[in-house]
Amino acid sequence: MKPTILLVAGARPNFMKIAPIVARVRATGSLDATIVHTGQHYDRAMSELLFEQLGIPEPEIRLGVGSGSHAQQTAEIMRRFEPVLVERRPDAIAVVGDVNSTIATALVAVKLGVPVAHVEAGLRSFDRSMPEEVNRILTDAISEWLFVTERSGVENLENEGIDSGKVHIVGNVMIDTLLRFRDRALELDMPNRMGLEPGAYAVMTLHRPSNVDEVRKLAALLEPIRRLGERLPVIFPVHPRTRKSLEEMGIGHDPGLRLLEPLGYLEFLGLMASARLILTDSGGIQEESTVLGVPCITLRDNTERPVTLTDGTNRLAGTDPDAVDAAIEETLTTEVAGRIPPLWDGRAAERIVSILAGALTR
Ligand code: UD1
Repeated sequence: MKPTILLVAGARPNFMKIAPIVARVRATGSLDATIVHTGQHYDRAMSELLFEQLGIPEPEIRLGVGSGSHAQQTAEIMRRFEPVLVERRPDAIAVVGDVNSTIATALVAVKLGVPVAHVEAGLRSFDRSMPEEVNRILTDAISEWLFVTERSGVENLENEGIDSGKVHIVGNVMIDTLLRFRDRALELDMPNRMGLEPGAYAVMTLHRPSNVDEVRKLAALLEPIRRLGERLPVIFPVHPRTRKSLEEMGIGHDPGLRLLEPLGYLEFLGLMASARLILTDSGGIQEESTVLGVPCITLRDNTERPVTLTDGTNRLAGTDPDAVDAAIEETLTTEVAGRIPPLWDGRAAERIVSILAGALTR
């Protein structure tokens, strides 16, 4: 009999990460994988649209948890996941990234004696006020297989005393997806469709609680972006979390700042690929811009993905308006050259599935 795994996803950035694993499992037939959608994200643009575009089959199990405080959301995922695990008794579960769905399901599994594979292990911002940092540390501490994207991850896990036999540097599944879908995204000809000139616009995303939940902070952060908007159109697909604050601030339309609903994966990738620069507080976009060779300004004080700074096109600007102005100026007036980090070659899922199938078949 084939080993069985449950593959968990819950929030938007998870879906790009499970897609290549599902595809590889199907291609090799080495594992029997069942997709579990926790329902942490539920809007069509944040969930179903991505499943369709990325060719991920309909999840067999849906927990339908929805939104709530961290404790409510995490607890609800745990409560609903436990009976599924008891009934299915898989040989392992695989979780991706650092969202509440990741830690909640990993914790349930480990307590029931089901081993956990963590994809995108080892990343550290060293900022425990970020909910994702807490999720990362805890998930890594209880995982059996830790699949790491970059060298810093191996060092972080070693420093935390995690057995090196559990740690595998495999590359980046999010980049597997980017490389697989890049041509299709380019075919959409997004700049043209949106009346933009390739290489002459900026793309921005913002959704970190520390940047968007406090209206005053968000207003200050938008000042340098508005100034940029006088020089280049800034395309800003707005996350539901950020939308709430913008509505409170009464911001709808702004010359130069084009607010959009969240975009599909292909549309967003198509826009990023031809941008002059990208501004973001997301983790994954720092990595994607590095592979696309597009300059990225990260609107945070730290990053858990330092390879995007040392090897890639990323620049850490913080959130002080003057510092963001300076980072924009420097980016627009200098050449930003980067290289693609080792193993970000489109084959991370292949390595993960081969390691898991090998370990579980023994
Ligand atoms: C979550 C992840 C974050 C990830 C982000 C990507 C955690 C702790 N955070 O943050 O790491 O980068 O997803 O998007 O897991 N909402 C909707 N529709 C949806 C989903 C959310 O309207 O489909 C609204 C809800 O009102 C909710 C808010 O957005 O309260 C935030 O959603 P939540 O899942 O709690 O966290 P994110 O900020 O999306």
